[in-house]
Amino acid sequence: MTTTPPPHTRTYFATDIFETCIVDPTSDVAFLAELMDGVLMLAEEDEAGQAWCEEQGYLGYTSYASLNDLPQRISAFAELEKRLVKAANGFAKELGFELGSHKLSMDSFWVNVLDPGAGHSGHIHPNSVLSGTFYLDLPEDTSAIRFEDPRLPFMMNSPPLKSDISPDRKRFIYIQPSVGNALFWESWLRHEVPVNMADEPRVSISFNLG
Ligand SMILES: [Fe+2]
Repeated sequence: MTTTPPPHTRTYFATDIFETCIVDPTSDVAFLAELMDGVLMLAEEDEAGQAWCEEQGYLGYTSYASLNDLPQRISAFAELEKRLVKAANGFAKELGFELGSHKLSMDSFWVNVLDPGAGHSGHIHPNSVLSGTFYLDLPEDTSAIRFEDPRLPFMMNSPPLKSDISPDRKRFIYIQPSVGNALFWESWLRHEVPVNMADEPRVSISFNLG
């Protein structure tokens, strides 16, 4: 004789955001300093990047549109890239990607110096599998990264949610990572950096893997 199961809810379609330490800020201070020197050098010397930022109204500096060979230019970036690729492939495994004998590799890699008062509006990273950001300097009161529920465009008639709802049901999630850590997510996941309210620049390195 079969018994009727009690009412139950199944939850599917998970969206994962992975955070891991890439550079230990207590034991690896010299490496963090080397990365920061690299960023500051680029911000000072990359004239094409500076011009692009000015044209686009980007407050601060990004190498996004001007340089695509940072790991070849600066050895600390090459080491960082290696660590990020390793962590990303661990995340890909967790996500259950069937990659055969292939591994994800770095497609692009750029630095961001977001000045006080600057933000980066909502966007996705096209033509990539995984994306992420490594955090180099997060001054006090700087913005957290905000992710949005990828199903948002379908929610034309969804009522608002209660404020005490559990984080996995929220429509927007704010994550404030630690310096030396990186966040990884699938590249289709829309995210933004709200205005940097700190008195100092917010410094990070973003990347795409394919
Ligand atoms: Fe982004």
